[in-house]
Amino acid sequence: MQFADQVILITGASNGIGRQLALDLAARGAVVVGCGRSIARLREVLVEVRRTSPRSVMIGCDVGDIEQVRGMTAKVLADYGRIDILVNNAGIGMRQAFVEMPAAAVEEIMRTNFLGAVNCTREALPSMIARGSGHIVNVSSGAGKIGTLNMAAYCASKFALNGWAESLYYELKPLGVKVTIVCPGPVRTDFNRDFRESEPKAPANLIMTAEAVSQAIIRAVEKNKFEAIVPRWLALLSLGRRLAPGLFRFFAERKFRPHAHRPTASEDQFHRTGTDGGH
Ligand SMILES: NC(=O)c1ccc[n+]([C@@H]2O[C@H](COP(=O)([O-])OP(=O)(O)OC[C@H]3O[C@@H](n4cnc5c(N)ncnc54)[C@H](OP(=O)(O)O)[C@@H]3O)[C@@H](O)[C@H]2O)c1
Repeated sequence: MQFADQVILITGASNGIGRQLALDLAARGAVVVGCGRSIARLREVLVEVRRTSPRSVMIGCDVGDIEQVRGMTAKVLADYGRIDILVNNAGIGMRQAFVEMPAAAVEEIMRTNFLGAVNCTREALPSMIARGSGHIVNVSSGAGKIGTLNMAAYCASKFALNGWAESLYYELKPLGVKVTIVCPGPVRTDFNRDFRESEPKAPANLIMTAEAVSQAIIRAVEKNKFEAIVPRWLALLSLGRRLAPGLFRFFAERKFRPHAHRPTASEDQFHRTGTDGGH
């Protein structure tokens, strides 16, 4: 009964993990407020969610836009009076060599994955602190624990999220607000549709379902864990990297090397003119 009548704001509820979590929490009696940019998909999810939670709503909102986030949280607080749990789940991904990435793509990833969580938390937090209760849940990634080949910007956004959340944990605990991060390994969603066949790809039997991740998020909230790394093999890898970083890099480098990007002549030229100040 832990989630009954709780007002839970889930970002990125129009698809994937966020959609599944919205359905699972609605089935547990929560009032779900979901957001995303795709209004058509939000409408479809709302129909499903309302089967078990008639007071739930979906709101169109880009989490990277502070004005939109302000409007969304103000509406939720006006309509429901509180946000019990905020799930910062909205995220975008890519797999591309950093040398090939336009600056705008790096900025978009940081704006969505990191600043999106910052924006939503900044707006929801004052009311949680005033009530002396609340829970900020961040859907991070294994790529926030282990740097992975050809995911530099994505890893940066998730490492930033993890460091920010760890600092917030200490800041908010005495104020009655809990903080959780959940770091899943690869999940079969639309998120990686465009690059899941590119190397280095995860073996099919290691890929999680959105259902399993949703359950892991729910368990982490119920047990008030600070960090949940799922599945178990990823938790073990992450532990290995922490305990023996040099040895970990030794083996990881051998696994990644065959897939490392070799810049073309034009990229090399671009790089040299960039660092030489155009001479
Ligand atoms: N799939 C994986 O392999 C994997 C692994 C580890 C961690 N994760 C993390 O899990 C989270 C959910 O990913 P997923 O796999 O469920 O991906 P997904 O199926 O692509 O769903 C992503 C969700 O985020 C929303 N979103 C994206 N940009 C947004 C923005 N600027 N403002 C508001 N909503 C936005 C999307 O909605 P709209 O398009 O409608 O805006 C969608 O609802 C992400 O944070 C991701 O980094 C995923």
